[in-house]
Amino acid sequence: MTLRIAAVPLLLVGAAASAQVAAPPPPAKVAPVAGTPVLPAWNKPAIRGAWNDTRLTPDLRAKALVAAMTRDEKLTLVFGYFGTDFPVSLYHAPVEAHAGSAGYVPAIARLGIPAQHQTDAGVGVATQGGAAVKRERTALPSNVAIAASWDVAVAHAGGAMIGDEAHRSGFNVMLAGGVDLLREPRNGRNFEYGGEDPLLAGTMVAEQVRGIQSNHVISTIKHYAFNDQETDRNTGNSVIEHGAARVSDLLAFQLAIERADPGSIMCSYNRVDGTHACENSWLLTDVLRTDWGFKGYVMSDWGATHSTAIAANAGLDQDSGFPFDTQPFFAAPLREAVERGEVTPARLDLMTTRIVRSMFGHGVFEDPAIERPIDYAAHVAVTRAAAEAGAVLLKNQDDLLPLAASAKRIAVIGGHADKGVLAGGGSSLVYPIGGNAVPGLLPTGWPGPIMYHPSSPLDEIKRHAPGATVTFADGSDPVAAAALARDADIVIVFATQWQGESFDTPMTLDGTQDALIDAVGAANSKTVVVLETGSQVAMPWLDHVGAVLEAWYPGTQGGAAIANLLFGKVNPSGRLPMTFAKSVDQLADPATPHVGNVAYSEGATVGYKWFDAKAIAPLFAFGHGLSYTRFTVGGLTAVAANGALTARFTVRNTGARAGASVPQIYVSPDAGGWEAPKRLGGFAKVALAPGASQTVSMSVDRRLLATWDEAGHQWKVAGGAYKVMLADSARDIRQTVTVTLPAQTMPATWRAK
Ligand code: BGC
Repeated sequence: MTLRIAAVPLLLVGAAASAQVAAPPPPAKVAPVAGTPVLPAWNKPAIRGAWNDTRLTPDLRAKALVAAMTRDEKLTLVFGYFGTDFPVSLYHAPVEAHAGSAGYVPAIARLGIPAQHQTDAGVGVATQGGAAVKRERTALPSNVAIAASWDVAVAHAGGAMIGDEAHRSGFNVMLAGGVDLLREPRNGRNFEYGGEDPLLAGTMVAEQVRGIQSNHVISTIKHYAFNDQETDRNTGNSVIEHGAARVSDLLAFQLAIERADPGSIMCSYNRVDGTHACENSWLLTDVLRTDWGFKGYVMSDWGATHSTAIAANAGLDQDSGFPFDTQPFFAAPLREAVERGEVTPARLDLMTTRIVRSMFGHGVFEDPAIERPIDYAAHVAVTRAAAEAGAVLLKNQDDLLPLAASAKRIAVIGGHADKGVLAGGGSSLVYPIGGNAVPGLLPTGWPGPIMYHPSSPLDEIKRHAPGATVTFADGSDPVAAAALARDADIVIVFATQWQGESFDTPMTLDGTQDALIDAVGAANSKTVVVLETGSQVAMPWLDHVGAVLEAWYPGTQGGAAIANLLFGKVNPSGRLPMTFAKSVDQLADPATPHVGNVAYSEGATVGYKWFDAKAIAPLFAFGHGLSYTRFTVGGLTAVAANGALTARFTVRNTGARAGASVPQIYVSPDAGGWEAPKRLGGFAKVALAPGASQTVSMSVDRRLLATWDEAGHQWKVAGGAYKVMLADSARDIRQTVTVTLPAQTMPATWRAK
């Protein structure tokens, strides 16, 4: 594990500091490295101009504003500070930064430019720097759980809720939108991302970002790109063939960017093809600007900048999180680089223009983020609904779930279920209202603390079963747990895997929980396992238990959501956003994550595509998830017209309960030639009352029917017959029809209307 704090250098920071100097203690609070003095009254500018005219476009306003700025003012905007003191490294954040925050860029009072107050992340308003500076807020379930809802409305509502909390906490930039593809189940940050498929991840993450930005808060999309493991993340090198990159990880970013219009993109720590992502002109300029037409600004991850002129000229606009880098690279060094002619004044103008354009475009000037009351009661419902929508019922033998009213003796075991539910670690960690339910677990410092949100599944289970005797064992003694299980009508085991930023994990539950579940399952076959994991885990005990519910890290209402699902108050409807492998031997590279070069030789053959291509049977397929009701699908038709493909079909709830299904459309060329036998082309979440049916129509993005032609720099759809498959998961195809598509090409700049 790398300690985040260890990356912070001892630096003298001050108006003139640009070199690495061993430091005497700095002043109590640092002055900005570059630019004019910071005045809090940014909204009472000395000068007004065309940029204040809200009838003008963000482009015109940005142009007018940058024309009025001095060089120092521009240098101020392209350089960000960590928002929180680091006692160990003697770093003190600027006085105006919000304590406990991730980042801060000073205001420019003369021109009325607000400060940028930046907060992590995708599950809510996070706290940096530990409990001393904590901000207690609502946590959504982890991003992977939101993706597992396959429900854009859930993603949007969650984003809107956390964006509201950010804005009401004084933040106008949210460092959310993790969309790196899940290539590596052991990646410690999988819980912050949207799963293994570019369409699913891009769509769900975009919707969350749209929700955040509906609050006049800029959101990032991150970490660009191929930051697909944490091991050696600062120097590791992701190697992937460019054609494969375009139809895998980059496509996820591309879809998310064009659907969400994020104000910013965060470039990642790792190198790509040997060059650091934050100075990689292929990523930052050729792909992002020239091909995708991105108009926002690129900010570096905290400590991901490695140069001044190289980074600026490659396409980095804002150097973030000083002092995480080994030195300030923008600010004073950038001024010198401009004076030396290594960076043109026009480039500095462009960087500044992109930043203020996003600030205008997302309402940061007109709707200032000011601390004010938050409606936490309303947010309880949002996070609970998200946790319920994202939980995946993986196994339910003989309809063991929902729990029968006749169960009189319920044994609850393990996972600190008497106290709360687990959260992922690192910069995205939200401190919940009520504090950590299980304080003191190691590590208590970065990337911890290990946090349990105080929503106790045990208490909620008791609430649902007032007539039953509910007993609890913490699971530390498998023999005692098995004895308790033997005497129960039903057993619910809570099992955990803690993942977090800066470290990877084995694809297993933590500690000796596999043995615990084995012992309990052997004692009572009516055992339900509830998983709280960041990603997939192997389940050597699967045959010995009756039901498995994957609850991920379910957020601050997790216990209530889990109990609602177990007792059937809510019908499970989540689907896996990743393939669950039986063991690491089934993965493309069983030996990773490792340091140095990580060659993604599987290219775009990621997740279910890998399992399909190699004809490997997974433990649970991508798209899999059970319900307490039954659905049928049928009536599939597919039409190709004007180069577009549209599928139509009907979903019917044939069971006795209301529920939601997730019909999926996969596409596949008869002639082959793709990275895998099939790709996800579309999906929908369809809620139906018992007996009800609905006709669904979806069109398939042309890029999902194409391959990337690297030599011709274009998308290419091969003419011929294509199978269109209506499915319940990547391994459960219900109906197939064939359509013929004409050959066509689309330019690199092509985007869905
Ligand atoms: C993480 C980013 C985060 C930033 C600011 C970094 O360590 O990789 O995701 O936004 O810190 O806290």
